[in-house]
Amino acid sequence: MPVADWNPDLYAAFRGLRMRPALDLLAQVPALPEGEVVDLGCGDGAAAGALRQRFPAARMTGVDTSAAMLAAAQGYDATTQTDIADWWPEAPPALIFSNAALHWLTGHDRLLPRLAGMLVPGGVLAVQMPRQFGAPSHARLREIAAAMFPDRFDFRDWTPPVAAPDHYWRLLSPLGTTQVWETEYLQHLPPGDAHPVRRFTKSTAMRPFVERLSPPETAAFLAAYDEALRADYPLAQDGATLFPFRRLFLVLRRPP
Ligand SMILES: C[S@@+](CC[C@H](N)C(=O)[O-])C[C@H]1O[C@@H](n2cnc3c(N)ncnc32)[C@H](O)[C@@H]1O
Repeated sequence: MPVADWNPDLYAAFRGLRMRPALDLLAQVPALPEGEVVDLGCGDGAAAGALRQRFPAARMTGVDTSAAMLAAAQGYDATTQTDIADWWPEAPPALIFSNAALHWLTGHDRLLPRLAGMLVPGGVLAVQMPRQFGAPSHARLREIAAAMFPDRFDFRDWTPPVAAPDHYWRLLSPLGTTQVWETEYLQHLPPGDAHPVRRFTKSTAMRPFVERLSPPETAAFLAAYDEALRADYPLAQDGATLFPFRRLFLVLRRPP
């Protein structure tokens, strides 16, 4: 079955909530040496304006695999359509910034030191990744998919793509000045045409599941997911819900 591309309109539906961590990450990026700013997994360019405002003199490149997201992306001097796993910059960047993208890649123990090694001296690697894989919003997707479609989904040997914060500290601190922290955002999701958490995960965490289901299978899967979500994230009278969402932040500054 072909893999569907990202949907920029769906993704943008919760822009305010999704931008907050990008801005919280950017706020911890120190002054930069000369060099390019790269937005890795830039998506539709949600962070481009804030990056430009903070580093107006730097050339800015967005990198993403998604043609649809890049088509919607504005605000970069250049964009490159490539997989982050294969990406190599033309010149050493001053900042590699990545908001909500690197959790789509495995092998962080190799990937993050590789990215850090690309930077100019004094350059910064700044990363935010959801660490929500154990929360009901994400765990139910795996549980329901494995129970309903065991021919396609088996998570018995699965490990979450994002490790615990102390793991990243041990990995990155030998390479430079390192900050690692987590924030759990208590997100208030407004009512809509489906459970608000389903609407939130639809454009991101749910994609790899629905991509492997036929339309009738998708309908059955979503009905089961909705039922589970109603128990895990009860709706207020107006149909809104509170959705705690945990995110991990890493900022590494290479020695000058
Ligand atoms: C949740 S969006 C985040 C977009 C943007 N950084 C933001 O803050 O809104 C994740 C993006 O990562 C991109 N992505 C996922 N895996 C990737 C990979 N292996 N290489 C390049 N881009 C990837 C997706 O195409 C998508 O645009």
